[in-house]
Parts: sequence; C-alpha cells; structure tokens
Amino acid sequence: MPHPKSFTLVAGVLLAACGGGEESNDHAAHHPGATGGGEHAGHHDFSDVERFAALFDAPDRDEWQRPAEVVGLLELSEGQVVADLGAGTGYFEPHLAAAVGESGQVLALDVEEAMVAHMRNRFEEAGLHNVEARAVSPDDPGLEPGSVDRILIVDTWHHIEDRPAYARHLAAALRPGGFILVVDFTEESPHGPPESMRLSPHQVSTELTHGGLSASTVEETLPHQFVIRAAHP
Ligand SMILES: C[S@@+](CC[C@H](N)C(=O)[O-])C[C@H]1O[C@@H](n2cnc3c(N)ncnc32)[C@H](O)[C@@H]1O
Repeated sequence: MPHPKSFTLVAGVLLAACGGGEESNDHAAHHPGATGGGEHAGHHDFSDVERFAALFDAPDRDEWQRPAEVVGLLELSEGQVVADLGAGTGYFEPHLAAAVGESGQVLALDVEEAMVAHMRNRFEEAGLHNVEARAVSPDDPGLEPGSVDRILIVDTWHHIEDRPAYARHLAAALRPGGFILVVDFTEESPHGPPESMRLSPHQVSTELTHGGLSASTVEETLPHQFVIRAAHP
C-alpha cells in the first residue's frame, strides 16, 4: 500500500502556488501582524531574535523536529557543502556542521540581518568554524552555480514569494548528484502557519519541478511535517 503522503512529480507538471506563514498554533507569537485571514507568502518580521529564539530553540523542539533524522535524510558526507536556507537562529547548524566535518562547509542563509548577526555570535561561541552565516535577498539565495551538494529548507519554503522562480536558482546551485530537502508543516499539524496558508506536499513538489527538478515525498517519522526531496532528473 502506498504511503499516504507519497507521490512523484517530474519537471513540467504545473500547479498553482499559494500560501505563507509561520510555525505554531500561536499565530500572534509567530506571525507578527497576522490577522488570520489575509496573510500570504512573503516577508514576515523575524527581527525580534530573542522572541523567535525562544520558539525555534525551545527545549521540547527536538522531540518533534527530530534534527538527527532530518540531517540523516540529507545523506551528507565529510567534506560536502550544505546550505541551510532560512536558517533562522541556527537550530540545525550544529548537526549539519558535524555531518560535513572540518573539511566541509555549512552555509546558514537568512534574509533577516538580525538572525544572521545572532547566528554569527552563536557559531563563534560554539566554535563552529565550518559554518558561515550569510544574509541573502528574499528572491535569490545568492549561491554560485554548481556550488553546493545539499540544500535544506525547514519551515521556510512557504515564506518565499515566487517559489517556482526561486526553485530555478536552487537547481542551478546544485552540484552533480546534489539534492534539496524541503521540510514543512502538514495540514493537520498543531504547529504551523494558518491553515489557509499551508502548502501541501503536492504543491511543494510541483513548485520545485519548475526549477527543472524531479521531486518526491520522503519516508520519515516526523509527527508534524512532511519532507520533499528534489534533484535534477
Ligand atoms: C520559521 S523560520 C525557520 C528557521 C529554521 N529553518 C528552523 O527550522 O529553525 C523561517 C526563517 O526563514 C527566513 N526567511 C524568510 N524568507 C526567506 C527568504 N526568502 N530567504 C531566506 N530566508 C528567509 C526568516 O527570516 C526566518 O529566519
């Protein structure tokens, strides 16, 4: 019997894109200015780092986020380059840094300057010398063509405005054999953006195919999120 969330899409399949938001059933806490009805993908104010750090680095997050499982799905090897798009407070970085080792590189990308400054301090304090925090523009990750082995995008894809166009930037940045993982909230999750803004796995896969990628659902045990893997066909 097929996995309930499983399907595969290849480049060329189209579906309308919509949605945007943030994690938690507490919209006010996670969506500054959220009204609950009219939100859309695009810029949300993540400048209050202290406030978001309390959510993104909450002590109970590991229980449902399962970072070791997520990073395991990336199948990283020593020496590889991995970009974490929308890295936030740097929750995943210690795991990614360990997976690529001293000879590898982690690029922690975020649109919010305050998050980037926070991450720089955090990585320096933790001695994570193979992690670089970089500010990026909302519509371009700024990655050199063919420069990264993996791209991880957790709870961030729904914030990107023109996702099909963005997928093309990501596809160009992948090295041969590279792939992208998008992790986002399921419709049923108690965490996540308002329901009307959530993206289905099918929608995310379809958007990624616009980058010329093949996308498929990944088998995992995350209780509140789905995972889509995309690579060049
Ligand atoms: C919900 S947080 C997720 C943080 C992190 N991935 C995690 O799981 O803890 C979303 C992050 O994406 C960033 N972001 C939003 N739009 C972005 C974009 N277009 N490019 C890069 N980062 C973006 C926000 O500033 C925020 O730090």
